[in-house]
Order: sequence, then structure tokens, then C-alpha cells
Amino acid sequence: MSLELDARQRAMLEEMGVRVWSPLHPSGMDDAPARATHEAAAPTRPHAPETVAPRATTTRPEAQFDSQTAAPVPTVASALPADIAAMDWPALQQAVAGCQACGLCQGRKNTVFGVGDTQARWLVVGEAPGENEDLQGEPFVGQAGQLLDNMLKAVGLNRGATGAQGVYIANVLKCRPPANRNPQPEEVAKCEPYLRRQVELLQPQIILALGRFAAQSLLQATVPDIATIPLGKLRGQVHQYNGVPVIVSYHPAYLLRTPQDKAKAWADLCLALDVAKRVPAR
Ligand code: URA
Repeated sequence: MSLELDARQRAMLEEMGVRVWSPLHPSGMDDAPARATHEAAAPTRPHAPETVAPRATTTRPEAQFDSQTAAPVPTVASALPADIAAMDWPALQQAVAGCQACGLCQGRKNTVFGVGDTQARWLVVGEAPGENEDLQGEPFVGQAGQLLDNMLKAVGLNRGATGAQGVYIANVLKCRPPANRNPQPEEVAKCEPYLRRQVELLQPQIILALGRFAAQSLLQATVPDIATIPLGKLRGQVHQYNGVPVIVSYHPAYLLRTPQDKAKAWADLCLALDVAKRVPAR
């Protein structure tokens, strides 16, 4: 696809580490579509979180301790609410805030429900909260979040905006795994109804799935043996999640470690932009 970039978008791309190259027209007019050709270091600008959705008060169950050994005693997880599929945004956010369906509730400081415009056309799905997200109750507020914000700004999206620039950002897991370990399959399974309901309520025109846990959670019903497919092989195609187009891309934390793949992430964003434009507005 071709994507005409204005000066602001070019600046954002520079900040995300993707150099924009465009040949000068013989007349001296630079009228060719810009192409990403090169990678550079991750941005270091401090992040200013812009929260749109109010945060619900999180219930953190008290851990029980063995009186002899002082070791934490695992508590029995309680069931998920039965009526998630009928919840509106506030009810869903309250349900997540009080969720004790898996052991992650014991270590959390905050649940991380999601942020952005609940009318947005774009949904970005990440993996799970890290330390900063757990402290602030908002997804992608650390270094990976700065990169994500710059990538989104390069295609005209902003987590603090509404309307055409609006985007909603959520994770597969709403609670931080201890020491940022990978999500466990049973944790993903417990949290899945919350993400499913977020998609139903949002009805986005495009979902951008960042990293293998987002891809696996969203595409497990439509892509056979997805757990065995490398993320790179899921890129460049338009998948489906409950009727919504899904584009798979690299997780920003991976891109911070592997900046040479930022140009591929930029190509994924351009594909998502192209697909979103072709989906009729709801
Ligand atoms: N990584 C994620 O996948 N989500 C966050 O919210 C932060 C880091």
C-alpha cells in the first residue's frame, strides 16, 4: 500500500526508530510515498500517560500465611462472573477489578483493564501488565509503551484521543504475572471472557495483536495449531476474531530488543491501516 506521510508523522517515525526514505522527484518535489528503510535505537522520551477510562477500584485479596512456616497459602480461586457476556463497560471494569479467578489476583497492586476511547475503531491487544502497569493500572506505560505510543502516533492514533484518532489498548491478562513471567494457559483461559466482551462492546474495525500471546489468544479458534506457528508466519495476513479483522505484529518489548524488526512492525501498521479503511464504519 502507499501511505502519504505528513511532517508530523515522519517525525513520529523517526522517534520510533524507523527512518523514512523518499526519493526526490526530478523536479525537486518530494511526491513519492515514503518508505521505511532503516532502524535505529528506541526512543528515550519520558512517557506521559493519558488515561481516558476511569480506573475502577481494584480489590486485592489478602494473602493467607501458614502460621508455622509463614509461607503464603494458596487460596482457592473463585469462579468468573456468569454474566460477563451481558456486561456494559462499567460492569465489566468492576468485574475485572474484583476478579479472583486465578492466582494472579494475589500479587497484583492494580488490575489493568484497558485505556482509550471505548468508541475507537482500533483495538490494540498486548500480553499482560508489567511492573509499571501494575502500579499505575494502565496498559503500556513503560518503555515498550513509549514505543507503542510513537508507532500509533505515526499512523495518526493516540490513546488520549477520540474520534478518528481514537484507539483502545488492552491486554490478554488483566493482572501482572509474578516477575513478568509468561502467561500460563489457565490464566489466559480465565481472562479470555473479559477480552472477548471488550471486543464485543468496542466492535472495532481492526485489531492489532502484539506478540504471540495476543495472537494465540485471539486466533486459537481460527488458526489450527497456532501454538506451533512462529509469530513471523502469522504476520502479513488478515486473520479474523469473531468477525473483526486481526493483524499480527511484534510486541514492542521485542522491538526494543530487536530494533532491526521495527520496519516490519511499520509494515504491519500500514497493513492494519489499509484494512481498517476498507471496513465499513459501524
Ligand atoms: N507489555 C504488555 O503486553 N502489556 C502491557 O501493558 C505492558 C507491557
